[in-house]
Amino acid sequence: MAMNDIAAENLKYVLFPWSKQKGLNPIPVVKAEGLYFWDADGKRYADFASQLVCVNAGHQHPKIVAAIKEQAEKLCYAAPSFATEVRGRLAHMISEVTPGDLNKTYFTSGGAESVEYAIKIAKMVTGRPKIIARHRSYHGATSGAISLTGEWRRAYNEPGMPGTLHAYPPYCYRCTFGQEPSSCKRECVSAIEEMIQYENPDFIAAIIVESVTGPTAGLYVPPDDYMPKLRALCDKYGIMLIGDEVMAGWGRTGKWFAMDHWNVVPDILTTAKGLTNSMVPMGAVVVSNKIADHMEDHTLWSGSTYSGHALAAAAGIAAINVYRDEKLIENSAKLGAVLLKELEKMKAKHVSIGEVRGKGLFAMIELVKNRKTREALMPWKEGPYDPNSGMSKIKKVLNDGGIYAFVRPNNICIAPPLVINEAQLLEGLAVIDKAIDIADQMVEQAAKGSGAAAD
Ligand SMILES: Cc1ncc(COP(=O)(O)O)c(C=O)c1O
Repeated sequence: MAMNDIAAENLKYVLFPWSKQKGLNPIPVVKAEGLYFWDADGKRYADFASQLVCVNAGHQHPKIVAAIKEQAEKLCYAAPSFATEVRGRLAHMISEVTPGDLNKTYFTSGGAESVEYAIKIAKMVTGRPKIIARHRSYHGATSGAISLTGEWRRAYNEPGMPGTLHAYPPYCYRCTFGQEPSSCKRECVSAIEEMIQYENPDFIAAIIVESVTGPTAGLYVPPDDYMPKLRALCDKYGIMLIGDEVMAGWGRTGKWFAMDHWNVVPDILTTAKGLTNSMVPMGAVVVSNKIADHMEDHTLWSGSTYSGHALAAAAGIAAINVYRDEKLIENSAKLGAVLLKELEKMKAKHVSIGEVRGKGLFAMIELVKNRKTREALMPWKEGPYDPNSGMSKIKKVLNDGGIYAFVRPNNICIAPPLVINEAQLLEGLAVIDKAIDIADQMVEQAAKGSGAAAD
């Protein structure tokens, strides 16, 4: 099918997410392999976003494709009340790679559903009604998950889930409490404790956090003592800690799970995406022994047709084997260090870069109009963006240079599949470097307009 025909049929019959439908221009994808995907005209893109930060083992990994095919021949589906070899095996493997005593899994169909289950389980086990989430977060688009989400898209779902509270996050580049790293006393943690007291600790079931927050909310890594402090706070008040690792899990940050960086074991871990390398939809809610024990004598008041789907389970087993056998988590840690070093070099060169940050192959370039005021390069705006806007031009330079990456009004995220090698990484970064010249021009124009110096 020709490029335009694919796009036209999609635009006529499919509702696209998070967008006004008019003016969209989707790339028709016809083939993919490893780091790359191709459009219907044969143009190749290096996928510096791993699609939605989810094909961690690379596109069309042959071992995962083979496992899905093999399972399809044997058994595609059995209802969740049955036991299957692949579901049990995958849950066993998950218990081996997740932190601490997270040993029992409920399977879902994706990230948002995992979050829904996590909050239901936390409420069922504690008997408490409220959940604390954070601003600058994303937890999914279903009603409960978007209620927890801490950014402007939540507003379109409101009034959302009752009992949802939002605390301020450790977004150190723009600290809510006016601190710099040198003066910080983790006011963001103390503020959560204050919130707990005002809201009555006996009514709070859980605190849910992205362990490393994803790009839509800014991609930021908490200071090293943040998660241990949050764990201690939860323990003090008998509140459950839910680690949302839908995006940050499966080697993305250079460890199996981002919580491993701080040796913190949440009570519940939510995940999806990299679990099956996104080759079949699947999510997971992994619970501690304490919760599993509770469930021995208490009914899990929930269920879903596709839980533990056999094709997805086969993909999950194969994906975990690939992460382990091909040392992709080690590669993420190694190349993540290279990536950050290169981004620091870019920052030294480009006046529009306010900060670069990240962990493993999960990094962010934050663009500003002015480094002193840290004013964002462009305000947040509903897409599709004006094709003449600076960010659209940046996107075009990337696409023309064969790079696909998340480009948002004030940031560029870099999250390639963990199979990338150093030469491919540097090649892609060279294109990004060139594209940021456009952001520098925007800064210079803004400075001219205001008569202020750009730096
Ligand atoms: C941290 C986090 N939680 C939940 C979700 C929702 O996952 P899904 O899109 O599979 O529903 C996402 C998706 O990006 C995510 O990044």
